[in-house]
Amino acid sequence: MALAYRERYGEDPAGCWRAPGRVNLIGEHTDYTGGLVLPLAIDHACYVAAGPAPGTRTTVGTLWGGDDGPPPPVSFEAGHIVPGDLTGWAAYVAGVVWALRERLGDVPGPPALNLLIDSEVPVGAGLSSSAALECAVAVAVTALVRDVDPEGPARDLTPLDLALVAKRCENDFVGAPTGYMDQLASMLGRPGHLLYLDTRSLTWEHVPFDPAAGGLQLLVIDTRAPHALVDGEYAVRRATCEQATRMLGVGALRDIGVADLVGVLARLPQEMMRRRVRHVVTENERVRAVVALLRAQRDLRALGPLLNASHDSLRDDFEVTVPHLDVAVDAARSAGAVGARITGGGFGGSVIALVDADRSEAVATAVREAFAGRGFAPPAVFPVSPGAGAGRLS
Ligand code: GLA
Repeated sequence: MALAYRERYGEDPAGCWRAPGRVNLIGEHTDYTGGLVLPLAIDHACYVAAGPAPGTRTTVGTLWGGDDGPPPPVSFEAGHIVPGDLTGWAAYVAGVVWALRERLGDVPGPPALNLLIDSEVPVGAGLSSSAALECAVAVAVTALVRDVDPEGPARDLTPLDLALVAKRCENDFVGAPTGYMDQLASMLGRPGHLLYLDTRSLTWEHVPFDPAAGGLQLLVIDTRAPHALVDGEYAVRRATCEQATRMLGVGALRDIGVADLVGVLARLPQEMMRRRVRHVVTENERVRAVVALLRAQRDLRALGPLLNASHDSLRDDFEVTVPHLDVAVDAARSAGAVGARITGGGFGGSVIALVDADRSEAVATAVREAFAGRGFAPPAVFPVSPGAGAGRLS
């Protein structure tokens, strides 16, 4: 990165930073209803090399790109950028600069920056490539602001603050109404651990998770089905949950116990809304059950039925799966996966499968064959393990 930066901008960067993507083990579509999630930062990350620039325009270049190579660099006035000024990939960068300015007030940071970005997190795979980009930019820009003004307001920003800056970019600059999970997982991930996050109190605990020690592997199956959160369905799910919360007069859906579910659901007017609420309530319960199993240091194979139940609930009650996801899950289970479920927002993206390490190849082959049989493009299958959250590389 440093070399490519030097070639492009003619000097060394002030530093290089990274922030990872994430997979969610369980707790899906609960993070915008004050619920519980259990993601892990993965070892695939986004990288940013950055330094101060002359003049007033911030320039952002990338090293990644599709068949046509990297998109052209984008530049903007860091001091004046506001939502609506930029769309596309550069909005995730400019939006962080904007959100940081909003958070800090008029910061006497460098008036202009040069940034160069690369990423290993596949875009559109449901692995939070956008949160990885936002968080990498957030840690990089904050560090540069601190360099200029070590005693200024940026000094006290915590990793949680930076995650919230990144989330603000996603919600209010990019315009995707996502919850808390992705940016907090990217900022707060810890090797060998899951992030057990309460999205109401914004408190968390790192829970040890070491599939390899139990002879297991966590596989990601990127179905390569198209996926777009800015599309309406995610927002519709969120709005339905918010409406149900108001109708039921509860502070948050997580306040509903599974034991009370039948009585509570009877108070909702529509079948569709009842199913959405049933998913959220039972999913929070499954997260608690998974954490209890992990804390009791039970064999990780005991997680299988809970992972499977989560997927089935997202398919039947929350209706966020698509054929690619269901075919991958069914094929993985038939080939002997301990458990398999969608990860992330759905409508495309990835599936995770917890598998015995010696079944890993058989599961991958079964999914590839099932995809070929349905005429789907081949999926990408790779193992992941819990990695570190965002930070400085050099
Ligand atoms: C997307 C969003 C997250 C979360 C998941 C579903 O990944 O960005 O905030 O809502 O969907 O669990």
